[in-house]
Amino acid sequence: MAWITKPSATEQIERRAEPYLTGPMRTKLLETYRPRFETALGALLPALHMIQHEYGWVPRQAMLEIADALGLPPADVFDTATFYEEYWTKPKGEHIVAVCRSVACEFCNATACTEAIKDSLGIDVGETTPDGKVTLVELECLGSCGTAPAALIDEDLHENLTPERLTQLVSSVREGTYTKGGTGAVKGEGGA
Ligand code: FES
Repeated sequence: MAWITKPSATEQIERRAEPYLTGPMRTKLLETYRPRFETALGALLPALHMIQHEYGWVPRQAMLEIADALGLPPADVFDTATFYEEYWTKPKGEHIVAVCRSVACEFCNATACTEAIKDSLGIDVGETTPDGKVTLVELECLGSCGTAPAALIDEDLHENLTPERLTQLVSSVREGTYTKGGTGAVKGEGGA
């Protein structure tokens, strides 16, 4: 078994002058959330949610500020933020393309869909296009196994995908011609 070491001990943290955890947010954390839990660790998830809700992701600097406010080791905050996939520890793009990677979709060619998007966007899973438009991720079962392979584009579910179809949808997202509304939602095709 190979161990993967994290570079967190030597990582340079980008800092900005103003805190992410603003005065009102700190007050809310300490006076509203913290008393609800027996230990400071309990308030960690709402603290991370608060930061993500405000900024769209959780910067390292914010993790340090939360650790300071709650009196926790920064490593506890970092470990928690990186354990849950729901927390974004890197800035995300304007749009999220999330391809299901669970077993039904895998059997129905989801991997080829993901590879097609990686090729067309020139990024890997977990990365964002340089123009900041699209972030590509993989998720577990989207509850649409009967119409696999499935993917989400932001909050729209797309089913029975092919690599070509998903590439077309993602191109329309990038070009700004995508119309929200679910499966087949591309302008000019009679989509919703
Ligand atoms: S396995 Fe992909 S939607 Fe269920």
